[in-house]
Amino acid sequence: MEEPHILSVKPLLAIFLIFGFILSFLDAETQYHEFNIQAKPVKRLCRTHNTITVNGQFPGPTLAVRDGDTLVIRAINNAQYNITLHWHGVRQLRNPWADGPAYVTQCPIQPGQSYTYHFTIQNQEGTLWWHAHHQFLRATVYGALIIYPKFGTPYPFPMPKREIPILLGEWWDRNPQDVLKLALFTGAAMNLSNAYTINGQPGDLYRCSNKETVIFPVEAGEAILLRIINSAMNQELFFGVANHKLTVVSVDSAYTKPFTTSVIMIGPGQTTNALLTADQPPARYYIAAEPYNSANVAFDNTTTTAILEYKSAPCSSKKGKNSSTPIFPQLPGFNDTATATAFTAQLRSPHKVDVPTQIDENLFFTVGLGLINCSNPNSPRCQGPNGTRFAASINNQSFVLPTRNSIMQAYYQGQPGIFTTDFPPVPPVKFDYTGNVSRGLWQPVKGTKVYKLKFGSTVQIVLQDTSIISVEDHPMHLHGYEFYVVGSGFGNFDPSKDTSKFNLIDPPKRNTIGTSPGGWVAIRFVANNPGAWLFHCHIDSHLTWGLATSFLVQNGVGELQSVQPPPVDLPRC
Ligand code: C2O
Repeated sequence: MEEPHILSVKPLLAIFLIFGFILSFLDAETQYHEFNIQAKPVKRLCRTHNTITVNGQFPGPTLAVRDGDTLVIRAINNAQYNITLHWHGVRQLRNPWADGPAYVTQCPIQPGQSYTYHFTIQNQEGTLWWHAHHQFLRATVYGALIIYPKFGTPYPFPMPKREIPILLGEWWDRNPQDVLKLALFTGAAMNLSNAYTINGQPGDLYRCSNKETVIFPVEAGEAILLRIINSAMNQELFFGVANHKLTVVSVDSAYTKPFTTSVIMIGPGQTTNALLTADQPPARYYIAAEPYNSANVAFDNTTTTAILEYKSAPCSSKKGKNSSTPIFPQLPGFNDTATATAFTAQLRSPHKVDVPTQIDENLFFTVGLGLINCSNPNSPRCQGPNGTRFAASINNQSFVLPTRNSIMQAYYQGQPGIFTTDFPPVPPVKFDYTGNVSRGLWQPVKGTKVYKLKFGSTVQIVLQDTSIISVEDHPMHLHGYEFYVVGSGFGNFDPSKDTSKFNLIDPPKRNTIGTSPGGWVAIRFVANNPGAWLFHCHIDSHLTWGLATSFLVQNGVGELQSVQPPPVDLPRC
């Protein structure tokens, strides 16, 4: 009589064990990675360059996590340059130490040194990315950061089995650090890139490149999720796939109301997830990206391609001797602001969202370029227009990074003299921002001014583009936050007319948004993440020229509203 009884315990135990096993997978996990920053020969456009990479990979490794997971990434600097890494779009709650912008939240990791970035993904899903955040190193040091929902959390759309990260990049046929060095010396515009890339490859339209053109094989009829990331340094891009419609389902790390389009406009720093169904006759189709140039300045006007190849395509249309040319997508003209604007205007949150309506901090920021006059206009250091040096600013303040310490470390340690907290909430002079601006207003002032925010305050920023030198779409990125994009328009922002048209119902949530060229965009967020958070144009040449500032969000009440203590290995300057 006892025997069966004992036996019956065993399966029960087994069930318990299996259940526990499954539970351990349901729990958030911690991933450990080593990012070895090292130079590696990389051949593109017929020439080999000693390229700074992570683990010898270009683009760098893809990180794939679930919401709630923790990442522990040991960055070992075996390169010859100082470097930092930034996890673009990750909120880094109470943890600015893991954010990465050099001299804002940390001093750079020096050659031979290492630093471990330790952070948890909290309530974010979608496609983000990571990149170097010092000087021009992000030109080659970048990769995808994919965040899947928690186990058991469904997608708001039928999630395809196949997904493809598409990293759009920009390649110089020289050392990108030298491109920066030259520009910093001469004060002139930066040398244009020589190619755009898809997953590191320029594609068929460039010299010495077609053997390596990226091919994405697909089954006829299947759906694919494209995770498109603009990791280019200086250029907004139009993106399309020949004969295929794209259904946008999320941007940055938030879902959107799905909408269908044949072209995507994506600014540097932004990401877009789009569904594609392979519903066309089996063949080869070009995936292409070309510049969207909103400014009246020179730009790299080349086009990068990859190939969507149906596995069932007739042999003659596949790669090989008799391969037929793939079909090319119809992309807009380089200066097609109407198409770019129409695309962005379609972005909406899937449901009604909680937008702050009572605003504590009403900020009006002019963003744009400028010129610094030289005492000796014939100097080799004044190669900008008419013997000047290029600059850029917010509210006429051209941001200069500190050198002796990072803003966050100085703030935490109470070290004076690194920055001041008098960043202006409005421009020092009112003028017709998008009209014919008098030359007397073209010269910004350099400084390291930050803007203080009380913990929990509600913030609205109207970002007003100026026509100084040229109007332009400036992709503005806020570290440590996501914001709602509540409105945008052309011309000068008029609070009496424009505020009433804000979308406070279902505005999209983002970490990077472009100003309309010759217009404005309005964002709102709650300052609930304490720390020093860089706010800047994600066009790297503009950032270099000073199109940035930093918010300093103060601690609230108690530990859970305060910045964590810094890790012991935080680099010193
Ligand atoms: Cu994607 Cu300040 O960076």
